[in-house]
Amino acid sequence: MTYKEPIHDVAQLAHVEMYSPDVDATVGFFRDLLGMSVTAREGNSVHMRAYEDFYARSLTITYRDKPGLGHMGWRSFSPQALERRAKAIEATGLGKGWIEGDFGHGRAYVFQTPDGHMNRIFWDVEYFQCAEEDLSCLINRPQRRPLHGVPVRRLDHVNIMASDVSATRGFYEDALGFRTRENIILGGEVEAGAWMSVSPQVHEIACMLDRSGSKGRFHHVAFWYGAPQHLSDIGDVFAERGIKVEAGPGKHGISQALFMYVYEPGGNRVELFGDSGYLIHDPAWKTRTWTEENLDRGIIFYGSPVPQEFFLYGTPDLPTAAAAAAE
Ligand SMILES: [Fe+2]
Repeated sequence: MTYKEPIHDVAQLAHVEMYSPDVDATVGFFRDLLGMSVTAREGNSVHMRAYEDFYARSLTITYRDKPGLGHMGWRSFSPQALERRAKAIEATGLGKGWIEGDFGHGRAYVFQTPDGHMNRIFWDVEYFQCAEEDLSCLINRPQRRPLHGVPVRRLDHVNIMASDVSATRGFYEDALGFRTRENIILGGEVEAGAWMSVSPQVHEIACMLDRSGSKGRFHHVAFWYGAPQHLSDIGDVFAERGIKVEAGPGKHGISQALFMYVYEPGGNRVELFGDSGYLIHDPAWKTRTWTEENLDRGIIFYGSPVPQEFFLYGTPDLPTAAAAAAE
């Protein structure tokens, strides 16, 4: 196989917009339990960030009658990189055009995946301006550690469900320069999952097969602790406040990360990451492919198995997705 020259135009996942039918309860979950803060409210949206997120927003909660993904916001490496990616995306036919800006960022190119998940990419961002009383003595930390909840440190990744994983993966690879670090192939032909990144992290985005055949659904957003103990700490908090823990704490084989999955009150799945797993610095990394033979260890390296709903539930939930498809 020939070595494919990497594209270094996408720098990071900058923010995620999530829909919630109960914005106050969803915001309360992220603020009071996960220690995040509200940076702005406008219209039906609330913009939030974790204490080590450097930009004005890493999460936006927007009112809709059903939960789901609004969009993913990617930051380019430069203004020139933004122009290059916009052209490449446009050539795929999946571009939606430019917007002048939105809260927390400037001019952005909007596009969708082959499955319809919405994305945007931009260069200009608004950095978080910390109030005097919240400043840290660490000059490399945008805000001191909050005292409420068990505070997550930063946005880590998103996981989307797609009716065609290979098409979605191929789009992120070819149009945006993501590299596929791990994937799952079942029956020798069906790609059931792919983990992709633009950095040494194993993934900034993962894509799982939506067995229902629905398009454009959302699996989860993940925030990072960096210290496994925090999963036990927040587990106590969740259990005492009626937050449903779906799985974990446990360790995935894929990515080798320590995880916990819970449902925020709006119905979206949220992952808390106890650490980052392993990092990839090899520029010629070859995708590691899991199959039926070893997948059990891939999903759960150790800890209790994840329930069946982990592979089936996404937002919006199925009756809604089916109804939307029938419209
Ligand atoms: Fe995840």
